[in-house]
Amino acid sequence: LKGRKIEVTIEELQKHSQIDDIWMAIKGVVYNVTSYVEYHPGGADELLRGAGKDATDLFNEVHRWVNIESMLSKCVVGKLLPSFIKPVLPS
Ligand code: HEM
Repeated sequence: LKGRKIEVTIEELQKHSQIDDIWMAIKGVVYNVTSYVEYHPGGADELLRGAGKDATDLFNEVHRWVNIESMLSKCVVGKLLPSFIKPVLPS
């Protein structure tokens, strides 16, 4: 992991779900896949199903053998932070 990497919250990830600005989390790593979308062998529409979210399950369902770590090593934004449930305390 070279360069500046950030920690990404689910809320931040969700902001990047448009065709001209797509982030996607797979296996805990957040990728900026904006420039990859036109090269995706499964097409842009399929890839967009995972836009702005944790797409690990979608990814694994279709092609868990695809080596995303090497393919998209230049597109790493950072790591996905775990989301915590905010406790609602009884009064
Ligand atoms: C096909 C990469 C995300 C759906 C492929 C293939 C690659 C690839 C390399 C060709 C696989 C092969 O022929 O063995 C990626 C990468 C992704 C990504 C790097 C993450 C950025 C997704 C997501 C979906 C998806 C989120 C949504 C379900 C598909 C489908 C195919 C495909 C449907 C076509 C399978 C077929 O026709 O045989 N992808 N993919 N991909 N991908 Fe993705």
